[in-house]
Amino acid sequence: MRAKDIRAKAGEEPITMLTAYDAPTARLIDEVGVDVALVGDSVGNTRLGYESTLPVTVDEIASRTAAVARATEDALVVADMPFLSFGASDDDAIERCGRMLKEANADAVKLECGPHTVELTRRLTDVGIPVQAHLGLTPQRENETGLYRQGTDADSAKDILRLAREHETAGAFSLVLEHVPANLAGAITDALTIPTIGIGAGAECDGQVLVVDEVIGLSEGTAPFSKRFGDVRGEMKEAIAAYADAVEAGTFPGEEHSHHEDGLDDVY
Ligand code: KIV
Repeated sequence: MRAKDIRAKAGEEPITMLTAYDAPTARLIDEVGVDVALVGDSVGNTRLGYESTLPVTVDEIASRTAAVARATEDALVVADMPFLSFGASDDDAIERCGRMLKEANADAVKLECGPHTVELTRRLTDVGIPVQAHLGLTPQRENETGLYRQGTDADSAKDILRLAREHETAGAFSLVLEHVPANLAGAITDALTIPTIGIGAGAECDGQVLVVDEVIGLSEGTAPFSKRFGDVRGEMKEAIAAYADAVEAGTFPGEEHSHHEDGLDDVY
């Protein structure tokens, strides 16, 4: 799958996207036929034990992206550029985004967008780095906006629509819309030719994305707009407890998990 294939799905067939942070999960996502594997900076909260996405580094995303790319044949692999890896200097940002494609084998990068990313999107697209834009709730700005719904009044809704158009014109191949009203997401979807991929943005987007830990039930909680489709956390807890119980009770390892060699009985 390439960025242009995702772009071509706009208005044609629903796009499926999930976060992926490791090879085994990415392999399953790929086997099932999910279109896009996003190596989200949500890895900070979900897997790295940070309180937010802000501490996540370029190296952490690169290493996770490489693992996901190694396990993926069909899904488009998107590396989520972490806080301050872009925004200060476009030249440095292009180097860091390029690293995701050259070293980590990503197919595209995602940027949490604002007015400062329009020109960067144009430059990245010009040099051959496909850009997925992200508007609405952008958690890297949590110190400014909080982690709340965005686009809830006419002025901020217009700002999001304007930025969506500007990023499309700059060359973005798709747009993630996070936690915005469903009717705003519907209007943006109608206004653009590139696909919108919603998270907490209603059913009118061209596709949907969720954090995989919430979908499989690995995380302790879920965002109000998300949905658990499994109970991996419950199953992991049961398996870990069963293992600890078996060791304490002396029932593991059994004969079938051990091996003996002749001639070793009198080495000591
Ligand atoms: O990092 C992430 O998981 C994301 C999705 C919520 C779109 O950016």
